[in-house]
Amino acid sequence: MATQKTAKKKPVKQAKSKSPKNDTKKTMATVFIMGKSHEVPADATIMGAIEYAGYQIIRGAGCREGFCGACATVYRMPGDYKIYTGLACTTLVEDGMWLSQLPAIPAQKPVYDIDKLDPNVATFQKIYPEVFRCVSCNSCTKACPQDLEVMDYINAAMRGDIEAVMDLSFDCLSCGLCAIRCPSEIVQYNVGLLGRRLYGKYLSKESKQLKKRIKEVKERKFDKEYKEFKTMKKEELKKNYYDRDTE
Ligand code: SF4
Ligand code: SF4
Ligand code: FES
Repeated sequence: MATQKTAKKKPVKQAKSKSPKNDTKKTMATVFIMGKSHEVPADATIMGAIEYAGYQIIRGAGCREGFCGACATVYRMPGDYKIYTGLACTTLVEDGMWLSQLPAIPAQKPVYDIDKLDPNVATFQKIYPEVFRCVSCNSCTKACPQDLEVMDYINAAMRGDIEAVMDLSFDCLSCGLCAIRCPSEIVQYNVGLLGRRLYGKYLSKESKQLKKRIKEVKERKFDKEYKEFKTMKKEELKKNYYDRDTE
């Protein structure tokens, strides 16, 4: 049985390419943004570098902490044939990086009524039939900045194993990097979302704590704390958030 999970703060990552790490003495790095070269701090994240170079990010940024999936980025390194992927807010630049942030990519997103679905394979067959075109190439897994076993949760959907879809896709940010690499044009993150919804609606055990907490909220037990939060400065709010108790 899967345990209850909470999303964790994501660490800043070294880029995925195999090129040597930045020279520690070097304080600036050359990166190419939309084909134009820029000198940026060598220890900047991709997002920091884009802004340092003078671009204003209007779309393609949200939380800036590796949670929202808005900043999907692809890049190449000189002399390396591979396309690498990462989140701009949590991936560090590398000298010579050619990068581009992804625009919003249209995705197939069927509308369904979760109350009228069954938690089995037939639901995936009906709503996302393209899932069964998966050729098990694993490109989705390689592209995932969350290091999720994306192909495995798609395969779990093909077996109707809702719990495995929920469990394996739990930390998905819907960044879309898997979907742009998929030769079968599957939108993996929406498949994972359906699995988590089916699990929550039909298969998860009723949570006594949740029931209790909803009752407390309705009884306005936390109104005083809400008011206090509304008056807090950003730094104080952040501290409260990261110091909170989590399981
Ligand atoms: S599963 Fe796909 S959409 Fe979700 S985080 Fe990984 S690459 Fe992004
Ligand atoms: S990229 Fe697409 S076809 Fe390849 S394993 Fe992932 S879901 Fe299957
Ligand atoms: S801005 Fe939210 S994950 Fe990067």
